[in-house]
Amino acid sequence: MPVPWEALIPFGLVTVMFGAAGTLLNVSKRAQNQGKPPRYHIDAWDEMMMDRDKRLSGHIRGQSSNPAAPEDFATNSVWYTERSR
Ligand SMILES: *[C@@H]1O[C@H](CO)[C@@H](O)[C@H](O)[C@H]1NC(C)=O
Repeated sequence: MPVPWEALIPFGLVTVMFGAAGTLLNVSKRAQNQGKPPRYHIDAWDEMMMDRDKRLSGHIRGQSSNPAAPEDFATNSVWYTERSR
């Protein structure tokens, strides 16, 4: 059976390039999420919780085990206003 050896170079290139793109996307997403897997299907509740986490820990993916909130937590919330039409 004839083997198309000349097709292996582009095949290898395509394989390596897909692998590089996927790995770079993985690294980029994890770097933005403090090394954790990215979140998907985020709803309004999740956004509120991530906003709270950001106010508690400084990052939307950060977590805190301290039972007492930091002092500025009482005043650093954002009051969302109604969007004008
Ligand atoms: C992304 O990287 C993490 C750890 O570095 C690994 O566990 C995970 O399987 C990778 N995901 C993909 C889709 O390669």
